[in-house]
Amino acid sequence: MKRRDLLIGGMGLGATLAMPRLAFGQTARFDRDPFQLGVSSGEPTSTSITLWTRLAPDPLVPGGGLEPRPYAVDWVLASDEALGAPVARGTAIATPEMAHSVRVTVQGLQPGRHYWYRFTVGDATSVTGRTKTLPDLRLSTGQVRFATASCQHFEQGLFVAYDHMVEDDVDFVLHLGDYIYGVSRGEFRHHTRKDVPVTLEDYRLRHALYKTDPHLQKAHASFPFMAVMDNHDALKDVDLTPEALAQRAAAYQAWFEHMPMAGGYTAGSRSIYTHGSLDFGDLLRLNILDTRQFRDNEDLCREAADPDYGFTIYRPACADVTAPGRTTLGAAQEAWIADRFATSRQRWNATASSVLFAPFAMQHGGDTFRYESSWDYYPENRKRLIGAMKETGLSNPVVLSADIHSNWAIDIPEDPDEPESAPIGSEMLATSISSGWPQPLDAPMKDNLTYNPHVHHYDSSQRGYMLHDVTPESWTTAMRVVDTIESAQAKVSNQARFAIEHGKAGVQKA
Ligand SMILES: [Fe+2]
Repeated sequence: MKRRDLLIGGMGLGATLAMPRLAFGQTARFDRDPFQLGVSSGEPTSTSITLWTRLAPDPLVPGGGLEPRPYAVDWVLASDEALGAPVARGTAIATPEMAHSVRVTVQGLQPGRHYWYRFTVGDATSVTGRTKTLPDLRLSTGQVRFATASCQHFEQGLFVAYDHMVEDDVDFVLHLGDYIYGVSRGEFRHHTRKDVPVTLEDYRLRHALYKTDPHLQKAHASFPFMAVMDNHDALKDVDLTPEALAQRAAAYQAWFEHMPMAGGYTAGSRSIYTHGSLDFGDLLRLNILDTRQFRDNEDLCREAADPDYGFTIYRPACADVTAPGRTTLGAAQEAWIADRFATSRQRWNATASSVLFAPFAMQHGGDTFRYESSWDYYPENRKRLIGAMKETGLSNPVVLSADIHSNWAIDIPEDPDEPESAPIGSEMLATSISSGWPQPLDAPMKDNLTYNPHVHHYDSSQRGYMLHDVTPESWTTAMRVVDTIESAQAKVSNQARFAIEHGKAGVQKA
């Protein structure tokens, strides 16, 4: 199923419900702002957008400081910032079952334009958010500007890089995972609880804490977001005990409750649908993969690991890794992405993967080590994906990735076993918003760049995001980095810029 199909008649109950207003506390008075977690929008199409907020006057206590009953929340969407020209309005119901989150999918909008929106409950009004629809699918599109971001450990610093993303003024933001962290690791500021979340309420409190960051809130209120999970957002798939499955289900529900998703999740479900595709006219098709939820166990070849090397997540790839049929996408998603490739008429075809797609070999102790979370541990799946790119003659493949808290610009070799084979595409892996990259993980990568001539840039020293400017003739990526994450006055600069020319796979310094 395409993500866009979910929008049609999805969760957008706002526009059509005529609510008995008083019954849902329309006259509610709030001593504290119930909109402290901000507003956001997501899943843009050329004619629709999903709006989100969550009522929580006391966001860091269980229940968010609300009575456990439904609240009626009015919303308005307008074509001007002062909201003087509303194009749609309605009432949505925030229920305690979904943490008093609100989601509204507004249809029938104009392509390629900004809209502004706001929520009201009782005597409280949210900030005004801005969002943007995708360009007209029938017209040719001259330019798209968007950002990729990832890995924002709350305890390690401010999410101040987002302030500069707001200044860069993008069409939308793609978040590639580690939106929250379960593990506590950092001293700059603290999780309200040190323990890894387990229950639904634990995960709600963790999401709420992250959403209190003003820089993140500003970005959400400025652009539509799409987000996929990485390993820290929910429990890994390795553990399949009933307790682990329940914990993962709790993580998925809290994720859904805090993201501007139109649908893709049903309360109590043990899976969530976050992969999807955005088409920017004839210029760009962006396929967003979920590389974590459906993957076969990455925890193989343990006996071959060196306890003193890369925290044992860098290991030789033993025979189990190359088993035919082994997958990081799952069969359904693999068929879906092949179809997105086959039906593309767009000039640029970006594939978002939370983890590194290109091969990376690390020579250690006479053996070749690989990073077990990356596609290097799913080589057969990668071969099938590259095969699909080739068979469909996919125009200008670009992979957008994250996870390893460093900036990379890479030529994706057509044959991953031969790093010097001709590139089939290009990969831009973005550094983290705030999470650091410890020396035991950094050093093996840095020390092995000479064995990986397809990697043109690697630098783990700075935090930030990537800014992508796409035109019919070229794709330019600026590695935007901040000079500190400990001050709201951080300054931004380019660590490097790389470009891809239309019709020529591979990255070039720009
Ligand atoms: Fe991370």
